[in-house]
Amino acid sequence: MQRLDKVLSDAGIATRKEIRGLVRAELVTVNGICVSSPEQKVEDDAQIAVRGEMLERRRVVVLALHKPAGYLTATEDRYQPTVMDLIPEHFRKWGVVPVGRLDKATEGLLLLTNDGDLAHRLISPKNDVEKVYYAEHDGTAGADDVRAFAEGIILEDGTRCRPAVLEPLGAGKSRVTVTEGKYHQVRRMMDSRHLHVNYLRREREGSLSLEGLALGEMTEIDPKIFDRMK
Ligand code: URA
Repeated sequence: MQRLDKVLSDAGIATRKEIRGLVRAELVTVNGICVSSPEQKVEDDAQIAVRGEMLERRRVVVLALHKPAGYLTATEDRYQPTVMDLIPEHFRKWGVVPVGRLDKATEGLLLLTNDGDLAHRLISPKNDVEKVYYAEHDGTAGADDVRAFAEGIILEDGTRCRPAVLEPLGAGKSRVTVTEGKYHQVRRMMDSRHLHVNYLRREREGSLSLEGLALGEMTEIDPKIFDRMK
């Protein structure tokens, strides 16, 4: 619950003084009922109208998308489809943007949000958010590769990666867990071990997984699940 005048001034409708005038002139309604005090408390989901026009209230939106291959992780592109093409308009209008990126060829879990702080917390390596990938690749990963990942791979340009977990799943298949998100990171780490990736899917990010989400599908996530994350 918040005070009506705070909700209206936060939404940039008018100053608190102007809001008093609007209320006095009976131009503000809450759930269809004319209000008599700007200090009235309103529920988070109350329908507020000023001069008959419904107020669009800002809310934190977090979406989980099962990204298919062939879509750019970008908000717009002149020539190629982007992940925003898979998000219904009623969510896009809240200003959601992708959190981090998946390559065009990569499938899997991609979060989108309009909460900049949350996006930063999810991306920051400081927070050790685990990103788990399933990879199909040339060759077969062995004990030496597992050790090299655990020690921290050095990429071909000299960049040192944080220690990561490589779990061989048999011929040409592995699971990779990283806690950072460098450009093409998993593909480049695997290349450094001559395990060229032909298919990559992100299966989990922190506590969120792809479970129940078909390819190309998205669902809204309750932002409260991130409350414990610093
Ligand atoms: N690592 C990659 O190489 N590509 C992705 O899309 C994600 C992680």
